[in-house]
Amino acid sequence: MKWTTLNRFKVFTVLIIIGFGIGWMFYAADGGTILNRFKHKTTTTLFSSDSQQKNSSKQEESIPVYFYKKQSDIGNPFSHCKHKCHVKDGFSKDRNAVIVFQGPGLFDEKPLRKYPGQLWVFFSMESPSYHPPSKKLKMWKNVFNWTLGYRRDTDILHTYGRFHLLPETKKPINISSTWNSRYNKSIIFVSHCGVASKRLSYMKKLNSFYGVDIYGGCGNLKCPKSKWGSCHDKIRNYKFYLAFENSFCKDYVTEKMFKIYWRNSNAIPVGRGRTQYELFFPPKSYLDTSKYHSTKELAEDMWRLSKNETEAATYFKWTRSYFVDRDSNARVGFCELCRRIHDLVLMKKHTRLYRDIDTWLRGSERTQICKTPTDLV
Ligand SMILES: *[C@@H]1O[C@H](CO)[C@@H](O)[C@H](O)[C@H]1NC(C)=O
Ligand SMILES: *[C@@H]1O[C@H](CO)[C@@H](O)[C@H](O)[C@H]1NC(C)=O
Ligand SMILES: *[C@@H]1O[C@H](CO)[C@@H](O)[C@H](O)[C@H]1NC(C)=O
Ligand SMILES: *[C@@H]1O[C@H](CO)[C@@H](O)[C@H](O)[C@H]1NC(C)=O
Ligand SMILES: *[C@@H]1O[C@H](CO)[C@@H](O)[C@H](O)[C@H]1NC(C)=O
Repeated sequence: MKWTTLNRFKVFTVLIIIGFGIGWMFYAADGGTILNRFKHKTTTTLFSSDSQQKNSSKQEESIPVYFYKKQSDIGNPFSHCKHKCHVKDGFSKDRNAVIVFQGPGLFDEKPLRKYPGQLWVFFSMESPSYHPPSKKLKMWKNVFNWTLGYRRDTDILHTYGRFHLLPETKKPINISSTWNSRYNKSIIFVSHCGVASKRLSYMKKLNSFYGVDIYGGCGNLKCPKSKWGSCHDKIRNYKFYLAFENSFCKDYVTEKMFKIYWRNSNAIPVGRGRTQYELFFPPKSYLDTSKYHSTKELAEDMWRLSKNETEAATYFKWTRSYFVDRDSNARVGFCELCRRIHDLVLMKKHTRLYRDIDTWLRGSERTQICKTPTDLV
């Protein structure tokens, strides 16, 4: 029989129906524990499905959101939202205006006057190390209602990707066709060398136990940033991909790490940053440098995995249970902002005012947001 598209479609449909049927039987039989099990796995809301916003049927008015000193890379972050909002450039004196301020741009600005009823949002995807220190940000007191960014204690969270749970399958994970032919090495892309996290020193130490190939400004291998696609393909020749953050700041984990999940290239990511990776990424899908006492110990684990394809394959099991939703232009966070400003009740529920945004950003003596790494051993 010819395997026509129609046949394929039929079989696919039948499988889906059977799948749903069985799933429902299980679910009904044990009173929802399947769902509960899934819920249990989702340690925090970072692994969520509620961010998928569907169309709203009724027509609603689009609310303008002002961006003070908008950075060009923002684009239109509301384009995929359920609710309607649109970007306006600059400041507004309107009552009730919603204004977004991008953190790093404010360091040299004196506070603006806030008009009655306005909602001000402090937005930043950069670590405090990239907010130039200045006395001026300290003056923006009692003006910001909400924060939007990568930190888990923001009012509205934005990460570079979200993991959604899939119904679990037993799809075999077979990497034997590629694993053993890959270099016994790790790959890293870095353009800035002298950064707060001292990642170059760390890489050098690691390199004496397990090879590190450095692409970009810090190394001698070249791959232009503009060609991320073809650079990314190089990862397929390596066993490990190093995602070392530029600073050691609370929850600061960037697209460096998420990228490897966007396009699964079957290299094991190695994260280094000041964060709990288990809150952001599926279990046993990465190595976390903070779990090792030394670069030597990390390298030993990398060698162990390099030599044992069966063990290495377990690091790709996450692809059975999760699918990653790429969120490169802050969509989810801005859609949540848009949702809230459309709903007065919701807005009231989230009434807030930051007394001192600078302290929130950088912390204080007692609660430091960023730390100096102590793992250079
Ligand atoms: C959203 O709306 C568009 C057109 O208005 C429609 O084509 C699409 O199917 C809708 N999607 C959902 C999930 O309702
Ligand atoms: C994995 O794939 C290779 C070739 O791609 C094959 O020889 C091997 O039998 C497969 N292993 C398993 C466990 O399916
Ligand atoms: C990686 O190391 C293992 C064990 O030492 C070796 O068998 C394998 O050939 C090496 N792979 C490459 C591509 O050099
Ligand atoms: C490879 O890892 C598997 C699973 O952890 C283990 O059972 C096996 O003994 C290991 N093989 C070698 C050669 O160490
Ligand atoms: C925002 O701050 C203003 C004071 O500047 C306050 O009147 C208003 O209730 C706040 N709104 C929210 C949603 O927090």
